[in-house]
Amino acid sequence: MADAFDGPVREVLHAGCPVVCCETHEEPRLVAAVAAIARELGVPFRAWSLLDAPGIRPAEAVASELRTLREAGGPQVLLLADVHSFLEQPTVARAIRAFVAAAPAGRRLILVAPLFRVPAELEHDVVVLSLPLPDPAVLATVAGEALAGLKLAAEPAQLAAVGDALRGLTLAEARWVVRKAVRSAGGAVPPAAVVLREKGWRFGRAEGMEIVADDVPFDRVGGLDELKRWLDERKAAFSRGARDFGLPPPRGLLLMGVQGCGKSLAAKAIAHFWGLPEVRLDLGLIVGHEYPEAVLRQAIRIAEAMAPVVLWVDEIEKGFGTDAADARRLLGGFVTWLQEKREPVFVVATANEVEALPPELPRKGRFDEIFFFDLPNVRERTEIARIHLAAHGRDPEKFGLEALARKTERFSGSELEQVVLSALYAAFSAGRELANADLLAAAHETVPLATTYEDRIKALREWARTRARPATLDRRKLDAFKK
Ligand SMILES: Nc1ncnc2c1ncn2[C@@H]1O[C@H](COP(=O)(O)OP(=O)(O)O)[C@@H](O)[C@H]1O
Ligand SMILES: [Mg+2]
Repeated sequence: MADAFDGPVREVLHAGCPVVCCETHEEPRLVAAVAAIARELGVPFRAWSLLDAPGIRPAEAVASELRTLREAGGPQVLLLADVHSFLEQPTVARAIRAFVAAAPAGRRLILVAPLFRVPAELEHDVVVLSLPLPDPAVLATVAGEALAGLKLAAEPAQLAAVGDALRGLTLAEARWVVRKAVRSAGGAVPPAAVVLREKGWRFGRAEGMEIVADDVPFDRVGGLDELKRWLDERKAAFSRGARDFGLPPPRGLLLMGVQGCGKSLAAKAIAHFWGLPEVRLDLGLIVGHEYPEAVLRQAIRIAEAMAPVVLWVDEIEKGFGTDAADARRLLGGFVTWLQEKREPVFVVATANEVEALPPELPRKGRFDEIFFFDLPNVRERTEIARIHLAAHGRDPEKFGLEALARKTERFSGSELEQVVLSALYAAFSAGRELANADLLAAAHETVPLATTYEDRIKALREWARTRARPATLDRRKLDAFKK
């Protein structure tokens, strides 16, 4: 993706943009790209970092560089590293504004850092470019070099698989992950799976993002037939065949509904269903970050580099649902991206509360569909109990699941799981095998949350009636709340 990386920089420099902030972890790569663009423009190029001004107060050193650029000599492209931490200092902000105001012909300023927080007074004077991460072909080349450095040679197909597995990393990280994977593979060319595992480590540290490792097949999700049908129709949606057929990749789903009814579980199963990797965006962490907008841009950049990928935003209303100015701005950026994204990043957002859900999220054009997760109906409760009994090594056919399902009206999936667990504990402590009576007793002792939250569930259903599609279609649903 050499072009995707250089392209935007070239465009703004040719367009005559005076100040460009480039967000990337790959400073050497940017320096090389800008040097090449300056050559094309026939303009001298200079790169500067704080190391070039030892002993001088950083803010003053930066201001003085800018003064020189503004006043002295002819056209020039100046690239400054290390400046992002000083952008908010009055001397630096003023020096940048003075430079922009003077608009000296042919002079361009590039700032480079992994993340930028542009102070309000500079917002209209600078352009922020969030540069993409390397594509699989570039990563494969780098992996090949790293392997060669370890005296290992890989087949082209192996190398391509490794390059693919490295998506979402910078070149430096990719080299490092390859070396680590070689060690884990006992000194051999690592299979893609090993590379993926080593990459997870990097993501454990990427701010606000983590790779979702649990692999949940849909047979561990009970009920929700409408959702499953929707997905089934899009079984090959991310395949080359679908693309050649002229189908755009699906954009995303918003899963709304009653707590404990399998939204988070389904979010994981969707990635498994499509055989795609999944990353979870931790909005709570991002909103609380010092540079929230920059961290969100970084997360999006990583997700796009990993595409096709499922990006899971759990309890989205908790992250965006506050009125704080920061959260509003962040939401604005996220919604714009949702609407305009081209990369096959399938967003699965979940939400439990309607009151806190920002109204712009469920609007048309953002998600393909909004699914409403209600309390499971009697048939779904049977299925969920069966799944959890089987998950604990019991033969579900040995139990009277229909009676149990009838007795657990208004139980959520999560509460049914708890019933199975409590019954298992009861049987174990009594020193015997699990019996039907244990399940019924556990159900009897449970007061489902829905009983206490009746009003909230009503409000959810009311909201969903006009805006969402039921994740389960069942006209015969025993609905305790229906008028
Ligand atoms: N439809 C379901 N099928 C199987 N298990 C379920 C279902 N719904 C909930 N559960 C169980 O309850 C747990 C919590 O559900 P979760 O997906 O976190 O609910 P939500 O995100 O809607 O609040 C799940 O991990 C699963 O064990
Ligand atoms: Mg959840």
